Amino acid sequence: MQGVTVVDHPLVQHKLTIMRDKNTSTAGFRRLLREISLLLGYEVTRNLELTTTTIETPIETMEAPVLEGKKLVFASVLRAGNGLLEGLLDLVPAARVAHIGLYRDHDTLEAIEYFFKAPGDLGDRLVIVVDPMLATANSAIAAVDKLKARGATNLRFLCLLAAPEGIERFTAAHPDVPIYTASIDRQLNEKGYILPGLGDAGDRMYGTK
Ligand code: PRP
Ligand code: URA
Repeated sequence: MQGVTVVDHPLVQHKLTIMRDKNTSTAGFRRLLREISLLLGYEVTRNLELTTTTIETPIETMEAPVLEGKKLVFASVLRAGNGLLEGLLDLVPAARVAHIGLYRDHDTLEAIEYFFKAPGDLGDRLVIVVDPMLATANSAIAAVDKLKARGATNLRFLCLLAAPEGIERFTAAHPDVPIYTASIDRQLNEKGYILPGLGDAGDRMYGTK
């Protein structure tokens, strides 16, 4: 699919299988999500622009590569986005963070916003939106709508599982935002859950429900 990168690294696929398993514990699920976020983070940051800076090694002076531009922003869609965020901050400790509180209304599947806090200069930064699940895409579309309304122009969306229906809707709404995912699953069920999926990501992370 155009605009979609599936991260098919064997370690990602192996860890994802354990996360899908309903017998995996809350602690195990959380640990795996953090581990997998490091591997997904490697892929979503692969083509960041570099510049050079002059440094002194113990032996001589050199022009050495460093990331160009302002620090990037990870925008976590609460709650489950925080499971990806923690590992991503290990990879890019200087990144700025936006939080977008959204929950799905269980009947309408509409995304309801309850919190938003982001750096003020989003237009100057790459914004990587993180949420493990892209199901109907209502949450992802609402998150990107909001970030764009606050000035973001350069965005990527990172998830663990995506439904074909969600990819289609998200790409129609935001064709300029590439998607990175570990898997494109089969379909949504009548309640908007991804099949085969892994269940409710927030509940599995936090042991709620
Ligand atoms: C889950 C998930 C996404 C959303 C995806 O969150 O983390 O944000 O559903 O579904 P969609 O593509 O159909 O919008 P949920 O609303 O369950 O909130 P939670 O993270 O607080 O559990
Ligand atoms: N949100 C989840 O957490 N899981 C799904 O399968 C769909 C939406």
